[in-house]
Amino acid sequence: MGLQPRDDVVLLLGAPGSGKGTQARFLADTLGIPHIASGDLLRDHRGRGTALGHAAQTYMDRGDLVPDSLVVDMICARMNEPDACRGALLDGFPRTVAQDQALGDRLAVRGSGVRAAIYFEVPLEVLIDRLAGRWLCRRCQASYHEVYRQPERNGTCDRCQGELYQRSDDKREVVANRVSVYLRDTLPVVERYEQRGLLRRIDGDRPIEVVRDALRSALELHAEVAA
Ligand code: AP5
Repeated sequence: MGLQPRDDVVLLLGAPGSGKGTQARFLADTLGIPHIASGDLLRDHRGRGTALGHAAQTYMDRGDLVPDSLVVDMICARMNEPDACRGALLDGFPRTVAQDQALGDRLAVRGSGVRAAIYFEVPLEVLIDRLAGRWLCRRCQASYHEVYRQPERNGTCDRCQGELYQRSDDKREVVANRVSVYLRDTLPVVERYEQRGLLRRIDGDRPIEVVRDALRSALELHAEVAA
């Protein structure tokens, strides 16, 4: 059966640069659930100078994962907010088997569960090119690329006119570590969803609009819902 708007929890899984954030806004709007991105939440904590932001800083700058306990508490707090009471699109979480187990426990308490896990497949050599050319909006987090998705005005977000910037962890050597951390810690999570029959693989190495159409098909989103 196809997903309906406000259908429990949907996960976006995939390597750094595989296109999770790029597709997330469309999908969250379509499903009528909030987009909750662990990386965005952590960067927000850093920007506000919270204790969590300070604790996360060194890990993020190296491209390592922030400890599970910190990230799980942060995501659970966000999922307790009223807009997430009927579901959420989780982007970048869970990233370890321990995080996945904590998420399962948390959802069981509120009588829900993961409805689908989307997995964007992109060859590793493409990821570096994508991340090195990525620009993000400081205000709304919209993602652009200097070749594949250019803003209408250089340095300015099309959506909110915010300033575009490049992430410090998109440096080549940090990206390489992020990719190896993903292979070691997050691929086992992907395998868990494959075993449960919830994984929907998407070939993410195609133009952004083509990937979006594939997402619609994979989730059996009807045209009037997905418009
Ligand atoms: P996070 O912010 O989650 O980064 P990530 O997973 O490494 O993913 P990215 O945001 O880099 O990639 P994306 O898949 O969203 O790609 P995008 O759509 O932007 O995490 C950052 C750090 O926070 C981690 O390293 C860790 O330290 C910490 N952290 C976060 N979550 C954690 C957790 N759960 N546990 C512990 N620590 C955690 O696309 C990339 C570029 O490609 C863009 O320029 C885009 O325009 C372009 N593009 C996208 N799709 C296409 C396409 N189809 N064709 C061509 N170009 C495309």
